[in-house]
Amino acid sequence: MIFSLVYVSHAVAPFDDSALETLAARASQKNSRLEITGYLNLNRTRSTFFQYLEGPQQAVLDLTAEIERDDRHRVANIVQIGEIESRLFPAWNMCYLDPGFFQAIRMEDILETVLLTMSERTFKREEVVSTVLRIARQIANRKAS
Ligand SMILES: Cc1cc2nc3c(=O)[nH]c(=O)nc-3n(C[C@H](O)[C@H](O)[C@H](O)COP(=O)(O)O)c2cc1C
Repeated sequence: MIFSLVYVSHAVAPFDDSALETLAARASQKNSRLEITGYLNLNRTRSTFFQYLEGPQQAVLDLTAEIERDDRHRVANIVQIGEIESRLFPAWNMCYLDPGFFQAIRMEDILETVLLTMSERTFKREEVVSTVLRIARQIANRKAS
């Protein structure tokens, strides 16, 4: 079984293209070693990151804890999607999605807002999880085509 989660964070340092490429290249190598796949998006307008990670549960949780300690950003919210039957992004060890790609998927923005402002009182966890999965599937399908 594959375990997956998403999180949203606020960038602390400004990330230019080269800083992002360096991060993505290094992350991709390490994720490959850990059998972790997923994608990372930087919303430059808001200075927020959105990352989807999937792989062996312990590896994903350990890596997420490490990413959380990274002082280049502050994690606002983590949503554990839990077990999924198969990977949504089998071919991406860590794909950085360029902003053009995301212009076509406004829902990503909506989801990010949800995660940034989410509280147990206003959103049911299951609703968030199913929304995250639906959007992640759309992104996976879109990227593949
Ligand atoms: C927004 C963000 C996303 C990150 N994503 C990953 C990732 O997917 N994989 C990874 O190995 N490191 C990621 N990192 C970097 C980790 O926080 C950490 O610096 C890195 O895992 C350390 O790698 P090392 O063991 O090679 O020193 C990310 C950092 C930030 C700020």
